[in-house]
Amino acid sequence: MLTETSRQQDFPPWLERTYLNTAAEGIPPHVVTQAVDHYLQDKQLGMDGRKRHETQWRAAQQQIARLIGLTADEIGICSSSSEAFNLAAIALRLQRGDEIVVNDLDFPSGITSWLQTPATVRVWRSQEGALRIEDLIPLLGPRTRLVSASLVSFYNGYKLVLSEVAAAVRHNSPALIGVDVTQALGRIPLDISAADLVVSSTYKWLLAIHGGGIVGVPKHRAAELTVPVGGWFNLQDPFSDERFERVTNRPGAASFTVGMPNYATVYAIAAAAEYLNTIGVVNIQQHAEPLVKAALEGLKKLPVELLTPDESEHLAGILAFRHYHAEQLHQYLAEQKIHVMHNAGRLRIAIHGYNTMTDIDRFLSTMHSALKSL
Ligand SMILES: Cc1ncc(COP(=O)(O)O)c(C=O)c1O
Repeated sequence: MLTETSRQQDFPPWLERTYLNTAAEGIPPHVVTQAVDHYLQDKQLGMDGRKRHETQWRAAQQQIARLIGLTADEIGICSSSSEAFNLAAIALRLQRGDEIVVNDLDFPSGITSWLQTPATVRVWRSQEGALRIEDLIPLLGPRTRLVSASLVSFYNGYKLVLSEVAAAVRHNSPALIGVDVTQALGRIPLDISAADLVVSSTYKWLLAIHGGGIVGVPKHRAAELTVPVGGWFNLQDPFSDERFERVTNRPGAASFTVGMPNYATVYAIAAAAEYLNTIGVVNIQQHAEPLVKAALEGLKKLPVELLTPDESEHLAGILAFRHYHAEQLHQYLAEQKIHVMHNAGRLRIAIHGYNTMTDIDRFLSTMHSALKSL
């Protein structure tokens, strides 16, 4: 992934494109394609395939635990981040008067699940693309149940310093801290020791496929984050004679997998996370950080409105900017086979371990020509 040879070997042909859109969709390496093939072969075995599915389930938990910094038993897998947030909202059994803090740089799924509960949602507003701790503190109080935030914003790539957020939350409220690491997992080394709930999608920087939602619940929070819903995979003893009278959910992360897991995705997650662990996320960061800095420096010289604060401790893999002619710029880049994201009123680039300085140079010089042509 990190050298020209391994990049060509590990991934499908790049088709002469410059791919800077991993924050939307990652490109799975060959090992992930093979893993999905293995799933289908194992599925052909019928019930005999189950043992193999269970082995992959455990492998996925172990590999993800290594990436996140939890233990395998503290990892659950559901079908999407959005589902994970909704289940977490049920687990918290929120009452009128409870408060949840979200922020205006977050993805809709980290915000809207709480609006469906009786709790009051308070919005931590960014200033010039940055979330400042002094703006969080007045939103915290004795009724704050959860502060939910993305470690890296999908909107502009702003990365929170989790330890600073946690210090403010712990000092000013009894709230739990929920962290969405979708835009970070597999791209930057994580220290989520302050988090009580960790959520991630699987089809972006993690390089797996759709249909998965990672959930991390540290053991000491399992009682507070057990989802009280029916099912079977999530139950202590689903076939007990008592099932007509009572139900006991498995605690914590295990309660988020309600029915039969999406094993095709589980195989893909196990392979993708093993791939990233073998390369080492520290090495990915070391490779990609200079590319992000070069792209940022280049963008600063162009007549665009930068939405990502130029603060190195808050940078990860995403940069975003606005321009009056964003639509035309996007079109121009697409014609040159440069893939970037255009939505929510801005253009966004995402730089992973498989990107190179050539990608950044091509992007910047094409932007230069595009802006001149307007
Ligand atoms: C931070 C973040 N969380 C969640 C999601 C969506 O997750 P899912 O599709 O798994 O519900 C996205 C999608 O872009 C995202 O950027």
